[in-house]
Amino acid sequence: MVETRLIDGKAFAERMRLRLADEVAAFVTDTGVTPGLAVVLVGEDPASAVYVRNKGRQTVEAGMNSIEHKLPATATQADVLALVRQLNDDPAVHGILVQLPLPVPIDAQAVLATIDPAKDVDGFHVVNVGRLSVGLDALVPCTPLGCVMLLKDALGSLAGLEAVVVGRSNIVGKPLAQLLLREDCTVTIAHSRTRDLPDVCRRADILIGAVGRPEMIRGDWIKPGATVIDVGINRVEKAGGGTRLVGDVAFDEAQGIAGRITPVPGGVGPMTIACLLQNTLTAARRQVA
Ligand code: GUN
Repeated sequence: MVETRLIDGKAFAERMRLRLADEVAAFVTDTGVTPGLAVVLVGEDPASAVYVRNKGRQTVEAGMNSIEHKLPATATQADVLALVRQLNDDPAVHGILVQLPLPVPIDAQAVLATIDPAKDVDGFHVVNVGRLSVGLDALVPCTPLGCVMLLKDALGSLAGLEAVVVGRSNIVGKPLAQLLLREDCTVTIAHSRTRDLPDVCRRADILIGAVGRPEMIRGDWIKPGATVIDVGINRVEKAGGGTRLVGDVAFDEAQGIAGRITPVPGGVGPMTIACLLQNTLTAARRQVA
């Protein structure tokens, strides 16, 4: 039986945001420029609206300008592209984030491809994806960046460790695999079609749940002492009515097996916005330099 320790992403993110607020203040003093983050929300998805509100509040708390653009669900692709181009040309905007998912039939890849890569604080533009994959300076997707920060804080060097990423999305799984490779991990990307998934997971010193399926990763898939990072945020029905949030990992089963684990909520989630703020300051520094 191992003693399982919690990785407190909420506290880490709070410290990071305080440090960023100091850095933003120094940047404003030095340059006279206040970094600006533009967030585009299309349609009425309630979860997206909550994220966007939190992003706006925390951007302002860090001393940066938050510019929110809300378009109706009926907006056309041309409307969204026109707005992105306007933000690309606006010198007060240093970072642009288009909240995903976009309503059908808008082509998300076409929208992402239109964002100026220098302002692409999500790191989703193919130029940033490519730069990350060849090891050049890039704006890096926020959730994967937050995961690696928590891992390095918990473990120090990640070199030589076996990392298994369950999930192959463009937002988390694929960029996280690139970042872990950059840290000299041996990386496996597993997914819903992986053969013998429990066995593959049992190899992991670092096990990442990023599939978006509630509690899919069971306790006996975890190698004793492994570090588990749970990216999933799934809303499920509670036995007595109402809903609760659970991750992709069966958290209770992991107790006594995992060495360390991130809780849901309060693990990876808060890191995403903190990393977004960091990327916005990085983008502003590069544009103003
Ligand atoms: N939707 C869910 N996660 C993300 C994210 O990291 N960025 C954007 N733009 N949309 C998302």
